[in-house]
Amino acid sequence: SQYQTILTETADGVATITLNRPEALNALNMQVLTDVTDAAAAFDADPEVKAIVITGSGRAFAAGADIKEMKDLDFATAYKADWFAGWRRLTGVRTPIIAAVNGFALGGGCELAMMADILIASSKAKFGQPEINLGVLPGMGGSQRLTRAVGKAKAMDMCLTGRMMDAQEAERSGLAARVVEPEALMDTAYEIAGTIAKKSAVATMLVKEAVNLAFETTLEQGLNFERRLFHSSLATNDQVEGMSAFVEKRDPNFTDS
Ligand code: HXC
Repeated sequence: SQYQTILTETADGVATITLNRPEALNALNMQVLTDVTDAAAAFDADPEVKAIVITGSGRAFAAGADIKEMKDLDFATAYKADWFAGWRRLTGVRTPIIAAVNGFALGGGCELAMMADILIASSKAKFGQPEINLGVLPGMGGSQRLTRAVGKAKAMDMCLTGRMMDAQEAERSGLAARVVEPEALMDTAYEIAGTIAKKSAVATMLVKEAVNLAFETTLEQGLNFERRLFHSSLATNDQVEGMSAFVEKRDPNFTDS
């Protein structure tokens, strides 16, 4: 494979990226950043790929940014390289992404999971932003995305104490969309991805764009933008097909056009 730290596969319109440094609990070093963002961008450019699943091998999703790699990092080096900014390539992906969180999702691991569009968790998953224990703070979005996901009360609690949240609390708090038994995690991820893969890719991209805008704008501007996107969806073949199929009481056959 062209990747050193991840495994990739594609089947039935669904691509999988598996973080594969189990001996380091899938700690996110710069090679992982390069591999994950390259793979995600390549899948995003492949019209056959309608959904992407990201998961971890072994007992972690990812236990954070690689502490051994960051230990000797200094301000000037990190600032000049804009350390971690490369993850923007992942959030720029327009294909829906599902994070299947199988175990520890700590620090950058929690932040990576939160970059996904749908986060599902094994009942054994543990979430946390333990950077405070290292004398630093989240650097891949934790203070922003966790706060938007679970609100100030729990985000401050997590980021200031470094405590972990279990899967049940994560679901209750709005961080995880679903919690399932560990044995059912990947089946559930593929069921969700497969469901999305059967939709019009134009429509799923429109949804992703609209929901994400909710975090960037006022309600009025967001509602206007959504309405315009809705109007533009009327220009697609898939709208004609979807509505015709409903009226004719048959399954739609979308062509992503
Ligand atoms: C590098 C890591 C790592 C990490 C685990 N390992 N997490 N290596 N970076 N983030 C390595 C360990 O060194 C060890 O390898 C192996 O993985 C197994 O981990 P153990 O600690 O032996 O396992 P266990 O006792 O079960 O504890 C699991 C754990 C613990 C609770 C998840 O590993 C842990 O606390 N990890 C660090 C979590 C963390 O602080 N993450 C945030 C990182 S900072 P060796 O070879 O040594 O035995 C971050 C953002 C920073 O993400 C942004 C600001 C710059």
